[in-house]
Amino acid sequence: MSFVRVGSAGDVGPGGVILVTVGSTEVAVCNRNGKLYAVDNRCPHLGGPLAMGTLHDNMLVCPWHGWEFDCTTGKCDFNPAIVLRSYEVDVVNNEILVEIL
Ligand code: FES
Repeated sequence: MSFVRVGSAGDVGPGGVILVTVGSTEVAVCNRNGKLYAVDNRCPHLGGPLAMGTLHDNMLVCPWHGWEFDCTTGKCDFNPAIVLRSYEVDVVNNEILVEIL
């Protein structure tokens, strides 16, 4: 498994979401209670930018039409068959590392 540095841990505080790029893929990195999770930035509804959404507990809310996804699993709240791709995240020496697929 390979990882790429995408930023500093201080870039995303608790309850925050940031957009990072991993290779050619846009990824939303969420900070839920100090632990980081990463999912695809593109909403499977109509392509909304999830990193521009808000995080409520573990639910990432799309800014366009309000679909919600569990940032820890990628699952959509009303249809668990709709799942965002998730990526492994690590923090080493205060740097955020995200898995390259
Ligand atoms: S584009 Fe995300 S809810 Fe519609």
